[in-house]
Amino acid sequence: MAHDPQKLDHLRSEGDLNISAHRAAWQREHLHEETRHWLAEDAKYFLHQSLSTPCLNVLTGAEGATITDLEGRKYYDFHGNNVHQAGFGNPHVIAAITRQMAELSFCTRRYTNLPAIQLAQKLTQLAPGDLNRVLFAPGGTAAIGMALKLARAATGRFKTISMWDSFHGASLDAISIGGEAMFRGGIGPLLPGCEHVPPPDHRHCPFACGAACNLKCADYIEYVLEKEGDVAAVIGETIRSTPYIPPPDYWRKIRAACDKHGALLILDEIPHCLGRTGKMFTCEHYEVVPDMLVIGKALGGGIFPLAALIARDNLNVMADRALGHYTHEKNPVAAAAGLAAIEYLERENVLEHTRTLGAYTLDRLRQFQADHEIVGDVRGLGLLLGVELVRDRATRVRATDEAEQVMYEALRRGLNFKLTMGNILTLTPALTITRAEMEDALAILESCLREVAARRHATHSTP
Ligand SMILES: Cc1ncc(COP(=O)(O)O)c(C=O)c1O
Repeated sequence: MAHDPQKLDHLRSEGDLNISAHRAAWQREHLHEETRHWLAEDAKYFLHQSLSTPCLNVLTGAEGATITDLEGRKYYDFHGNNVHQAGFGNPHVIAAITRQMAELSFCTRRYTNLPAIQLAQKLTQLAPGDLNRVLFAPGGTAAIGMALKLARAATGRFKTISMWDSFHGASLDAISIGGEAMFRGGIGPLLPGCEHVPPPDHRHCPFACGAACNLKCADYIEYVLEKEGDVAAVIGETIRSTPYIPPPDYWRKIRAACDKHGALLILDEIPHCLGRTGKMFTCEHYEVVPDMLVIGKALGGGIFPLAALIARDNLNVMADRALGHYTHEKNPVAAAAGLAAIEYLERENVLEHTRTLGAYTLDRLRQFQADHEIVGDVRGLGLLLGVELVRDRATRVRATDEAEQVMYEALRRGLNFKLTMGNILTLTPALTITRAEMEDALAILESCLREVAARRHATHSTP
């Protein structure tokens, strides 16, 4: 069933909606009988949920920076759930996985294996400061759960401070610290002691600091830490995928406040680890070492589900209790995928490419902002980029309907991305995307912005 996009604003958060009229129109126009058949089967056998089933389309291929649908259409995938730091179907990763599957395909509990040890060692070498203890989990949400348990065990406290609008996964513990209504609503009691504070987003800052951010939101975290006096941990996404990019001193202030009040700092870099922002780990941009760093997504080489908690040595305090205990904790194939992905990123200087191409793309997007009224803001770091569409730059009213139009127009022309908060085109291509491919994708995006702006102009000038 299609719904009027204007009436769905309260549901907009992490991704775009699967019940919009624009989606229904795109599907009517593009999908042939076979695809419709499989989509109907998907809708018949899977539990329905927002941001998933009913699905948009059926994929049959993913390679490099692109995905291919059942009808053979190719799209640059500027979403990829952020797993494609090393590109989709990276041959180096596939070769490592294939070799490992033939050798040791699973590691029974109580045993260890070489790829798992080598990946843990590599991560501790790459991670900043004394982050030198690792525990793997089969997904980011599970790794967040381990971090929360470890914070309780290490501090003897249970309260947390996290941000409104944040996302840390969809399990009960993760939605308790998360800040999005779509995940938290109508689900009953959440974990106690989860305090929420405003995120570092000057556009919607309740302290009204505007673009001249004076870090009142970071001061407020210190205020809560002091008032409560018994907070176990502050947990946040170093940079929210939207992206909202905190000012340089934001995390340094919070690090100092945590130290002062005996709280741990947990940074969630699940979607951005291994180079999305142009550094292996985003906290390196802030020169801050958290007590725990949680990573995932690209860690499995874009093929395997794999996440990790990387903690300071002095947090190795749960030897007599279970912290994770996941069946695939030391899966050798997943670890081989992670090692191969990191090898590839290092060997091919992918992080340098990310910084250079990211800076170039950001400049191009800023030019779009100069040329098109509808573009209210543009921001990014590395190849984590966002284009915010507004009805009117002065009032910053979100252009949610126009954003959907741009998104489906882009799909028509071969570019896939997701919307966040309804009006932010969130652009996260494979880090391996070439300059020529990026040019192509930017040309598509600009033609869509122009088209939707012209449509709006025509509607408004019609008597
Ligand atoms: C910031 C952040 N934290 C946690 C998660 C949850 O990770 P997973 O889906 O691997 O459980 C995600 C996934 O999108 C995420 O973006």
